[in-house]
Amino acid sequence: MREWGPQSYEKLEIFTEYVQGFVIAAKGVSERVYLDAFAGDTVNVLKTTGEHFPGSAEVALGVRPPFTSVRLFEKSPTRVHQLEELLQASSEVVDAKVCPGDANVNIPAALQGLPKWAPTFAFLDPDGMEIDWATVCALADHKRAWAKQQPKRTKVEMWVLFSTSGMVRNLGADMQRAVKAGRAERVAKLYGAWGPWERIWQAKRTNEIDDATARRCYAYLYMDRLASLGYRYLLARPIHNSKNELYVMVFATDHPVGHRIMESVQQKKRVIRRDLKLFEMPEERPQYETPWRGWRDDLPFELPEWVELSGL
Ligand SMILES: C[S@@+](CC[C@H](N)C(=O)[O-])C[C@H]1O[C@@H](n2cnc3c(N)ncnc32)[C@H](O)[C@@H]1O
Repeated sequence: MREWGPQSYEKLEIFTEYVQGFVIAAKGVSERVYLDAFAGDTVNVLKTTGEHFPGSAEVALGVRPPFTSVRLFEKSPTRVHQLEELLQASSEVVDAKVCPGDANVNIPAALQGLPKWAPTFAFLDPDGMEIDWATVCALADHKRAWAKQQPKRTKVEMWVLFSTSGMVRNLGADMQRAVKAGRAERVAKLYGAWGPWERIWQAKRTNEIDDATARRCYAYLYMDRLASLGYRYLLARPIHNSKNELYVMVFATDHPVGHRIMESVQQKKRVIRRDLKLFEMPEERPQYETPWRGWRDDLPFELPEWVELSGL
């Protein structure tokens, strides 16, 4: 069992509406693929109300029409066991597997056996900064050659949690300490490169920019990286607790319909279950300008070029 704050519940609500929209939009195709890179717990409880709610894997296994292939990646052995039980109880998906271990290692191998022509949605929902850029590239490359053959074909669609608060917290004010603890290297693996994010970090340390600007710059840099993989549409949906932004959900797709569905579900006003009040008012979504292009022009300094990590 895992307890979550209301912001995780909010994220799951958006996710639930989107995956249901995804399979309906793809119902004319004989195969639909779902990849859950950080599949998590099967018993989830909302801290503020005690309510139980399904995790992403259960939601994806329950949509109609069903996905035809599902891969659930998870590192924790206990959760792997729970996910296996969940699969045994859900008979609708023809080809469903749990892939135990590190998703960064297992995703490239799992992609080999999946159909390139099938509409494919990947949910990348780590606790923090665990996703390697190499994994995101493997997903984007999976259908690339097939998608290139005709203009309407699309690459793997992704919804990725980018932890902006984790960036600020992990990099921190003490550069040497962050480098020594391997945190700078972790960030380099997250972006797949050094360069612009280091300049943002420097600007934050020297108070050229504030926390909120740093968070936003880190997220926009990640969107720049996704854009460089050739995605036609990108969306950013910040997720806040009652005080601050925690992370940004970044959506990348080539499909105009996928883009429209996600834009509509992520912009909806929602009741955020912060406590037990009976008549809560739906809240406006936190704002982020999308498209984000041009954001670099607003900075009081120039960003350096990306220096790609070797070996990717
Ligand atoms: C935020 S939770 C996922 C929640 C889930 N997507 C949901 O919505 O119900 C992140 C999960 O990723 C798992 N995890 C962490 N690092 C991982 C890795 N490198 N590979 C696979 N799973 C990992 C954790 O054990 C945890 O269960």
